[in-house]
Amino acid sequence: MRIEQLDPEHTERFLVYRSAALSADPDSFRFAVSDDTVVGVEAWRKRLSKDHVVVVCNDGQWIGVGGLTRLTGAKLAHKGLIWGMHVVPEERGSGAAKLIMTALIEQARGRMRQLQLTVMADNARAIAFYRRFGFEQYGSEPASVLRDGGYADELLMWRLVQDGKRSPGAVFLPRLGEAE
Ligand SMILES: CC(C)(COP(=O)(O)OP(=O)(O)OC[C@H]1O[C@@H](n2cnc3c(N)ncnc32)[C@H](O)[C@@H]1OP(=O)(O)O)[C@@H](O)C(=O)NCCC(=O)NCCS
Repeated sequence: MRIEQLDPEHTERFLVYRSAALSADPDSFRFAVSDDTVVGVEAWRKRLSKDHVVVVCNDGQWIGVGGLTRLTGAKLAHKGLIWGMHVVPEERGSGAAKLIMTALIEQARGRMRQLQLTVMADNARAIAFYRRFGFEQYGSEPASVLRDGGYADELLMWRLVQDGKRSPGAVFLPRLGEAE
């Protein structure tokens, strides 16, 4: 298992992965596959050039992804948003998600003061995972997302970047296809 940073040239493959993730776990995300279609490939390509997006690879397969975006504006740029965390079902519990989150936190270190994310209130596994990384709930949004079963709440979580245990060792991120 190794972690790599995505470039804009990986946009198409990223969107295939993301589409499969959103389809397989529709209740876990605030976006639908149709939203990505509306956003379009070029907007995603720009996002991959701006955001820090990482994948975990195993034997050439992508088994997990996650992204970090920095908020913009003089008054908001101290904040980073973790988005799109996903690990394929057969690799959950394998440490792939830990590799992703560790890399995103390391990327934020020295650049941003705090990180935030949203998670569906009934996504107990993801909430437990985020808590393990020092994220705390600071609020919730009632009826935030319209899902098949009706409106669902989201939790808002945050952590200071410098708080919590520093991840052991620096995380070296080769660009995809660069190393070995
Ligand atoms: C969220 C996700 C990336 C986390 O990756 P993961 O490999 O499952 O995470 P881990 O197994 O390392 O950690 C999950 C934790 O939840 C615990 N857990 C597992 N099932 C649980 C459940 N039903 N309720 C509560 N906790 C649960 C695990 O024991 C583990 O905690 P521990 O390390 O203290 O034992 C992954 O589950 C995933 O891709 N889920 C579907 C997509 C998703 O929900 N993305 C997040 C959108 S905000």
